[in-house]
Amino acid sequence: MAVRSKSSKAWLSEHVNDHYVHKAQKDGYRARAAYKLLEINEKDKLIKPGTVLADLGSAPGSWSQVAAKLVGENGRVFALDILPMDDIAGVSFIQGDFREESVLAEFESLLDGRPLDLVICDMAPNMSGNAVTDQARSFYLCELALDFAASHLKSGGSFLVKVFQGAGYQEYMAAMRDVFATVQTRKPDASRNRSSEIYLLGRNKR
Ligand SMILES: C[S@@+](CC[C@H](N)C(=O)[O-])C[C@H]1O[C@@H](n2cnc3c(N)ncnc32)[C@H](O)[C@@H]1O
Repeated sequence: MAVRSKSSKAWLSEHVNDHYVHKAQKDGYRARAAYKLLEINEKDKLIKPGTVLADLGSAPGSWSQVAAKLVGENGRVFALDILPMDDIAGVSFIQGDFREESVLAEFESLLDGRPLDLVICDMAPNMSGNAVTDQARSFYLCELALDFAASHLKSGGSFLVKVFQGAGYQEYMAAMRDVFATVQTRKPDASRNRSSEIYLLGRNKR
């Protein structure tokens, strides 16, 4: 049996004992991340009956589960991930790498010209362990998501995106401010304190 390092043991124990992991199992959500979106939505009322939204980096699917429930029959959820995702009623999903033009084109044809009320993006690259590379890869995905939001959101639409504080953060905030009238930060309880992740919420697309 592999010997775990002290830090991976600590991580495992934090994860296993994590209140939100248990809660997700009990509530039928595929990931604890569900509670991040639920908490943000409780405050900001982003997803309502009839909302049409895109969920970028959707697997295993807890945000799509939350979104599908909240948008109801008159809304739509379009989801994309590089990994497979089990079906969720009311969610149209494609599997592919968001960095690839052909995948973007496939996703756009799924939208079929529908303007979006909301784009939510929880994409995060596989971590290589090299902090500089990981940060750059993460912001690259966030930049692509911002471009996507800028082109597909209705005027007045909103964009919620996970970023990691560090190199590139201020520049990204500035780019968000060019697209949205207001940009706020959100750090939901379910986001572990020691993580540098933070959510940016752009509202009122210009
Ligand atoms: C933190 S998880 C998302 C969890 C999801 N919000 C949920 O509630 O289940 C980040 C996701 O980003 C996806 N991802 C990373 N790079 C991607 C890429 N280039 N294209 C599409 N998805 C990507 C990963 O496969 C992973 O499923």
